Amino acid sequence: MIITKKVEKALNEHLQLEINAQYSYLSVASWCEREGYEGAAQFFYGQSSEENTHFMKFFSYINEMGGHALVPELKKPKYEFKSIVEAVEMALSHEQKVTKAIYEMAALTKKESDHATEIFLNFFIDEQKEEEVQFKRILDKIKLIGGGPQSLYYIDKEFEKLANAAAAGGGKKKKEKTAE
Ligand code: FEO
Repeated sequence: MIITKKVEKALNEHLQLEINAQYSYLSVASWCEREGYEGAAQFFYGQSSEENTHFMKFFSYINEMGGHALVPELKKPKYEFKSIVEAVEMALSHEQKVTKAIYEMAALTKKESDHATEIFLNFFIDEQKEEEVQFKRILDKIKLIGGGPQSLYYIDKEFEKLANAAAAGGGKKKKEKTAE
């Protein structure tokens, strides 16, 4: 095995966070769709599929390095939200948790002199920075626009723009391709 047992364990534990994100965002997308937030639904479906890509990158990497990738147990996601703000706050808090876990893994790879995994994690360090900034910007915008019915229409349009930019192959998508 090219990676150490400790790194293999940390990577396997991380799979849980990525799959939780995939399911949570899928659940948010469904809630948005039911509530009539079409742009936000489109955005969160995209986020969910991106989390699946992250999950698979970690999963494949573990086996590629001679470890054993273990499919984690699925945690039931939250189905109902008081508001779009609550859903975005949940997403931001989840991303902060993921970032913390990735930083801890990066520290572990340094300790274990696992340079390959250290380099592998660089992509995710960049990705987390982008995702946290994105969710923070969305929250700031919602606070700025306000929460009235007309405001919600504009907020939904903002989500639609973000979803379209991602679908058109924005920076993130290009970066993922070059990282493969
Ligand atoms: Fe893949 Fe956004 O954590």
